[in-house]
Amino acid sequence: MDYLGHPVSDKREEATLFKPFWNDTSIKTYLFDACSVLLPAGEQFVISVVESAALRLQQTSVLAECSRNFVAEERAHQRAHRRYNQQLENQGFEVKKFEHMIEKDLEALRSKLSLNAQLALAAAFEHVTAVMSAAALRRNGLLSVKESPQTRLWRWHCAEEVAHQHVTTDLVRSLGIPYWQRIFFFLAASGLMAFDVIRHIHSFARLDIARGRVSSKEVRRAAGSLLFRDGANLALMAIGWSAYFLPLKKS
Ligand SMILES: [Fe+2]
Ligand SMILES: [Fe+2]
Repeated sequence: MDYLGHPVSDKREEATLFKPFWNDTSIKTYLFDACSVLLPAGEQFVISVVESAALRLQQTSVLAECSRNFVAEERAHQRAHRRYNQQLENQGFEVKKFEHMIEKDLEALRSKLSLNAQLALAAAFEHVTAVMSAAALRRNGLLSVKESPQTRLWRWHCAEEVAHQHVTTDLVRSLGIPYWQRIFFFLAASGLMAFDVIRHIHSFARLDIARGRVSSKEVRRAAGSLLFRDGANLALMAIGWSAYFLPLKKS
């Protein structure tokens, strides 16, 4: 089965398992694989928060309808990324361990924070995800133009992230979450996501170097080329990220 749930022959599935670096370089492959590890638990958090927040709306409103569509899309992403992450685990990467750690952290946050604070955090996760998705999808973006099950999955997921990002910010506005709270949780969410993604990239690179799939010199070269050759993508991401400090626009 591919990540989107379509059946594929065993031979094709096996071939994709051992293909080297589906996203052109080691570091760009690790970057997206590292983000995937965050997704099943992260999307569960966002789903639960949006469902709870939407209960406060008039159920026949446009935003309540958008929230239901949002939840359906996130559930489909979650299923696809569970398969994706299982395949990473089958390739020997430490994925389950990280998934459990993230799940526990997010459950703790959910039990301790008020609904408004959870929504501020969920909207921040969605903003960072949409900014990265836009950088992935653009021409000469972060996502390889080579066809693979991974690029197909990411193109589909990123397009839906960009399109539905407004739902959480619309909920933030309709629940009257103040600017300081939105920004406080945005900074916290950005820090948490960056920490987790770097931790996963480090773990993936360490394993591949230890098993001889790639040398540390090649990983350093790929990281350097990400900084220099993808400078425009990184700059656009920085601009998109900082746009969250502006007052919210009506969608
Ligand atoms: Fe998603
Ligand atoms: Fe999303």
